[in-house]
Formats: sequence, structure tokens, C-alpha cells
Amino acid sequence: MSDKIALITGVTGQDGSFLSEFLLDKAYEVHGIIRRSSTDYRERIAHLEGRPRFHLHYADLNDSLSIMQVVSRVRPTEIYNLAAQSHVQVSFDAPEYTANTDAVGVLRILEAVRLCGLTDRCRIYQAGTSELYGKVEAVPQNEQTPFHPYSPYAVAKLYGYWIVKEYREAYGMFCCTGILFNHESERRGETFVTRKITLAAARIAQGKQEKLLLGNLSSMRDWGYARDYVECMWLMLQHDRPEDYVIATGQQHSVRDFCTLAFKQVGIELDFVGTGTEEKGIDRKTGRVIVEVSPDFYRPTDVVNLLGDASKARRELGWNPDRTSFERLVQIMVEADLKKVATEQAVERIRTNLAEFLEKGIVK
Ligand code: NAP
Ligand code: GDD
Repeated sequence: MSDKIALITGVTGQDGSFLSEFLLDKAYEVHGIIRRSSTDYRERIAHLEGRPRFHLHYADLNDSLSIMQVVSRVRPTEIYNLAAQSHVQVSFDAPEYTANTDAVGVLRILEAVRLCGLTDRCRIYQAGTSELYGKVEAVPQNEQTPFHPYSPYAVAKLYGYWIVKEYREAYGMFCCTGILFNHESERRGETFVTRKITLAAARIAQGKQEKLLLGNLSSMRDWGYARDYVECMWLMLQHDRPEDYVIATGQQHSVRDFCTLAFKQVGIELDFVGTGTEEKGIDRKTGRVIVEVSPDFYRPTDVVNLLGDASKARRELGWNPDRTSFERLVQIMVEADLKKVATEQAVERIRTNLAEFLEKGIVK
């Protein structure tokens, strides 16, 4: 049995799935926490289920007993706490649930490790976020930049950040926070802006969608590729001392830029005209309106100027933020969504044909 035993909360999420692959490649025994659900299909990790070194356990970050049970059974050498209600807009609708999971959930992990007597054995990675900088007080942001959380999600994550620091100082635990800027991929949830755009570009190009409605087009993000970012989580836990790190590319683009590039990938050149809610993205060739602004996607408070300075991670962890360019990231996502939409269409056609054949008695 491996002496490297990782426990990942949030294993079914974007990062959890990439991190599982990364750790399995490094010969770890990987344990993941999943929530009981009425549907059992876990799309992002389906390809890993059944592998000998990959194990799943039912637990919930809001249920201390379940966390204690898993931690005491698995006795991990590393915990990656990635589980969270991770959608900023949703945190305005479900602030209490978000606080319970994203703030107190972190405490539950730390206490489980302490109460199970694993303080010296187990290192802990906490998924922090650039949302902590929120209504930014400086650009770019690094480990010294003051925090100014600007959503219920960010406020909850701020508690997570401080409680990790507290346990490090009070109990000498090896626990640290990665302050990760936005990272995207073909596995990104479909309601985050990048994936919403790449999926819409693929659908519009294949005649399956008319228009794309978005909120703030001028919002600026530092977008990296999730597959590259999970390595940093691991590097932080291999370091000789527990410290917090900013992980970012150091490049900034607007939501509008992302749209322009994604639609270009499917052969549609967009021109943006107008301002505010009247702004539109128009197909240069046909004059057709492809992108419109809807205030439904505006947030009560929005974070609009994120740009990270990951010099410390580059210097101390040897991490290379330039591995996947912004252009390549958009290309990876659009290509994957073009395939997804084409496959869905093919399946739809097969279903329709089959239904017809059954009706006509051609097949039984
Ligand atoms: P994600 O795709 O939304 O995945 C979230 C994961 O958390 C899912 O596996 C989800 O399980 C699980 N989860 C939610 N509530 C839970 C609960 N109460 N108990 C147990 N599991 C629960 O998020 P992600 O993009 O991979 O992000 C991973 C972490 O990094 C999150 O903490 C996020 O806040 C943070 N972060 C992300 C980014 C980014 O750009 N992606 C940047 C900075 C920080 P189900 O599948 O059952 O819903
Ligand atoms: N989701 C969404 N949908 N966002 C939109 C839309 C839309 O239709 N239109 C414009 N936006 C803007 C949002 O207002 C925000 O300023 C920006 O696009 C990015 O939104 P999201 O993709 O939802 O991501 P996020 O930056 O709020 O949060 C993500 O990154 C954080 C790290 O900074 C999440 O992954 C968080 O979990 C993570 O901590």
C-alpha cells in the first residue's frame, strides 16, 4: 500500500477531477468525498471509478460526523479541501448554505484532523480564491495585497483563509491556502462565464442556439487552465514549510475579449457596439445579433479587476504560469464543446430514428 494517501473533498468538481488524475499518476492512493445523490453518475470522474487506487466515500462538509468518520478511516497524509458552494452569484441566493460549507466546512476538516490525532501526519491544502481581493485595493494582487471580499462567497472563503492560518499558528499544523485566480477548462461548470460562452459558441455555430445573454461584459479576469493549476496545490504541500501562495497567469482579459476569441474559433467575427445593457455582439458577416446583455446576470456587487502576481509561487515552488496561453485555453474549451454538441446531435438523431423504427415495427 502507498504511503502517500490523499483525501480530496470536492472530488467530483472541475479541480477535484484533475487533481485525482495528477495524484494517481504520482502513485498516490486517492480517496474522494462524494455527496449522496439520487443520480449516481459522476461525469468528471467516471473514467477513474473502478481504478484500484481510487476510492470514494460518502460524506458532506456540513456534517461533522461524516467528515470525522472518513478522516479516521482513511488516515490521509494529505487533504485537499476543494469542496465548496463555488458559484459567486449563487452565494447571493444561498448565503447561509455558502457560509456553512465554505467557512465552517474548513473548520470541520481542520478539527477532524486534530481530533483524529493526525496533526503531525497530515498536511492540508485549502482552496482559497482571488475573490478575497474583491473590490480590489491594488492591481495586480499578490500575497501582501489587502483583502476586500465582495460577495457572501468571498466572505465565507475569508473565514476559511483565517482559520487555516490560525490552526497553523496555534497547533503547528501544516496547512496552507492557495489563493487561486480563475482557472477554467473543458470540465468547467456550465454556468461559469467562460464555459457558458464556449458552449454557446458551439451551439450557435451548429444551429442549436439563437443568442447568448450575458451580464457584465467589462469584468476583467486572470484566467488560467485548471489542469495546470492543480499541480500547484500539490507543490504547496511538498514545500518545506506551510505558506500561502497566489496562483495566477499575470494576464488579464475581459469577458468581452473571451467572447470575441471563442466565437472566432467557430468562424464568427464579433463586433461589439453600444454600451451598458444596450451593448451587443454582432456577427460582422451577417449583421445578426449574437450576444446581448441581460441585467439578470448582474450581481449586487461584482468583482471586476482581478490580476494576479504569482512571483512567489514561481520563485519558491518553481511553478510555471505560462504553460497554457489564454488563446490555447479558449481553443481547448471551444473544441471540446464543439465535439460535445455534435455528439448530442448525433445521439438525438439516433434516438429519433430508433423511435420511428420501433413505431413502424422495423425493429423490436
Ligand atoms: P466545482 O467544480 O464547483 O466543484 C465543487 C465541488 O464541491 C463539487 O465536487 C461538489 O460536489 C463539492 N461540494 C459542494 N458542496 C459540498 C458539500 N457540502 N460537501 C461535500 N462536497 C461539496 O468547483 P471547482 O471549480 O473545482 O473549485 C474547487 C475549489 O476551488 C472550490 O472550493 C472553489 O471555491 C475554489 N476556487 C475555484 C476557482 C476556479 O476558478 N475554479 C478559483 C479559486 C478558488 P457535487 O458534485 O456533489 O456538487
Ligand atoms: N457566471 C456568469 N454568467 N458570469 C458572468 C456573466 C454570466 O452570464 N456575464 C458576465 N459575467 C461576469 C461576472 O459578473 C464576473 O464578473 C465574471 O463574469 C466571472 O464570473 P464567473 O465565471 O461566474 O466566475 P467568478 O470570477 O465570479 O468566480 C469563479 O472564480 C473565482 C476565483 O476568482 C469561481 O470559480 C469561484 O469559485 C472562484 O473563487
